[in-house]
Amino acid sequence: MIEREETSAVDPDYLGFIHNIKQSTGIDLAEYKEAQMKRRLTTLRMKNGYGSFADFFAAMMKDKALFYEFLDRMTINVSEFWRNPNRWEVLRDIILPELQRSGRKLKLWSAACSTGEEPYTLAMILQDKGILSQTGITATDIDDGALAKAKQGLYLERSLKDVPTDVAARYFKPEGPMFKVSEELKRNIEYRKQNLLTDKFDTGYDLIICRNVMIYFTEEAKHKLYHKFAAALRPGGYLFVGSTEQIFTPSQYGFESTETFFYRKK
Ligand SMILES: C[S@@+](CC[C@H](N)C(=O)[O-])C[C@H]1O[C@@H](n2cnc3c(N)ncnc32)[C@H](O)[C@@H]1O
Repeated sequence: MIEREETSAVDPDYLGFIHNIKQSTGIDLAEYKEAQMKRRLTTLRMKNGYGSFADFFAAMMKDKALFYEFLDRMTINVSEFWRNPNRWEVLRDIILPELQRSGRKLKLWSAACSTGEEPYTLAMILQDKGILSQTGITATDIDDGALAKAKQGLYLERSLKDVPTDVAARYFKPEGPMFKVSEELKRNIEYRKQNLLTDKFDTGYDLIICRNVMIYFTEEAKHKLYHKFAAALRPGGYLFVGSTEQIFTPSQYGFESTETFFYRKK
């Protein structure tokens, strides 16, 4: 027999929690896939010894550390430099040269950038092409803690495992047991807090990188987001998504699929 997931429709305690979180933080948990999110938050709630989501929320409002633990659990900050390296090669060798042909200063955005590995990967590629200082990179995330780590730019050696050795030598310096990303990369990235699901987007982007976050969103939330991304791109601009985040009917958003996981705005 298939066991059915309990949904918020029959779980007023969780539904109340969603409502309270939205009221107090603006984060709408209803736009994230429910089964996954509820499972993660139930584990956290039980680990902290709360019998209901109502008690858990009340405790969180008094205890900042618990609130940050909740944020940490709901956001999932896992990231890597050069995540799926062959896609970054496509960006470097095919997409960026095409964008450069316009001769314009490129406007680039790493959306849901987590702790910075993604915008720094982009910055390394641009610097190697000699065009970093003539481009604008914005990197955003909903999570202040992740953004603070991104700005700091200090990483464990193991997170450099996919960075080509010569690239790592150019852009990282050992600092105690950690590795620090170079100032020239940091200088060229502007970090900002932003909720992709509720905040307005800037426009005129040549490239938006949004990887490994849309998998957590409901179909409706994704649908709205694809429209917002399409409106934020210039014609001919690209959306670069994660390797499990294929868009099934890109044409309904005005996109055409060119390379795998790259969508060009028509
Ligand atoms: C798994 S990480 C992906 C990081 C990076 N893009 C990558 O592919 O390696 C997901 C990130 O999405 C962020 N996030 C989750 N919900 C968000 C939202 N509504 N708006 C903006 N960022 C969000 C989380 O804080 C987290 O840093």
